[in-house]
Amino acid sequence: MEVKNIGVIGAGAMGSGIAQVSAVAGYDVVLQDIYSTALDKAKSTIEKSLGKLVSKGKLSEADMKAAMERITFTTVLEEACRDAELIIECVFENLELKQKMFQEFEKLCKPEAILGTNTSALPITEIASVTKRGDKVIGIHFMNPVPLMKGVEIIRGQLTSDETMETTLEYIKKIGKEPAIAVDYAGFIVSRLLDVLMNEAVKLMEEGNKPEEIDKAMQLCAGHPMGPCKLLDLVGAEIAMHGMETMERDFGPKYKPHPLLKKRVLAGLLGVKTGKGFYEY
Ligand code: CAA
Repeated sequence: MEVKNIGVIGAGAMGSGIAQVSAVAGYDVVLQDIYSTALDKAKSTIEKSLGKLVSKGKLSEADMKAAMERITFTTVLEEACRDAELIIECVFENLELKQKMFQEFEKLCKPEAILGTNTSALPITEIASVTKRGDKVIGIHFMNPVPLMKGVEIIRGQLTSDETMETTLEYIKKIGKEPAIAVDYAGFIVSRLLDVLMNEAVKLMEEGNKPEEIDKAMQLCAGHPMGPCKLLDLVGAEIAMHGMETMERDFGPKYKPHPLLKKRVLAGLLGVKTGKGFYEY
């Protein structure tokens, strides 16, 4: 099946980034969110990001304009589902909410549409279990910041068909990214490793280490592009906490989120999105 129209559901940092890279690659995108304020913010985030790429000579002005014209912003879910051959769901990391969305997709999308989820930790088979279209459901896990990160984790659920896999891989190639194939267990590969690293950084901080020193150590001594405290601020403390909780649920207490991580989430110290995490933004 050829994908031409993409419905991206949820216009946060991930949804807007996915809409952007898809539109730049020539897809017609409908970006949907229940909040019009989220759509306004997504539009300005995409414009800013594309503007940055233009200023660096990585994109022409004309391509930026064409990409913006290929994105429709809407609060109406039907509009994002109606023509889509590929749905990429990016709503909050909440199993019940995601399952509810997939039941909606089943009602609103064409029978041949691929139903992708950008979940960072929830097993794909568990999301797919509420639909009768398990063969069409697949994990398409983008990385933050989407326009800059080359890799996308692809996760096959128990019932995902070869055709769904092939069409998804074609899409990943067309947007200029590289797939990393992960097995369908909580956290896949990336969150399984990174969430543990970030949770451990919170422990190090509680033991008296300064976030700047933790980050410096991992950047300069271990060659990480970004230290774990800065990374936690980028992805959001609540996302890492949810990932740990999902892995704790499936694999046991080894993955228990540190109490301080939970406390920081409750206090709203989520990172870039709330203006304050380990650092101020
Ligand atoms: N669009 C366009 N340009 C952007 C951008 C965006 N969204 N975000 C940043 N930039 C620009 C910056 O403005 C900066 O521009 P200038 O050079 O003009 O200042 C440039 O890109 C480079 O950024 P920085 O100088 O700030 O930093 P950098 O050279 O370290 O590169 C990085 C940034 C690519 C993010 C790099 O630090 C990196 O790879 N970090 C690790 C990120 C990572 O691990 N992501 C995965 C997290 S896990 C996840 O996302 C999954 C999940 O489910 C939680």
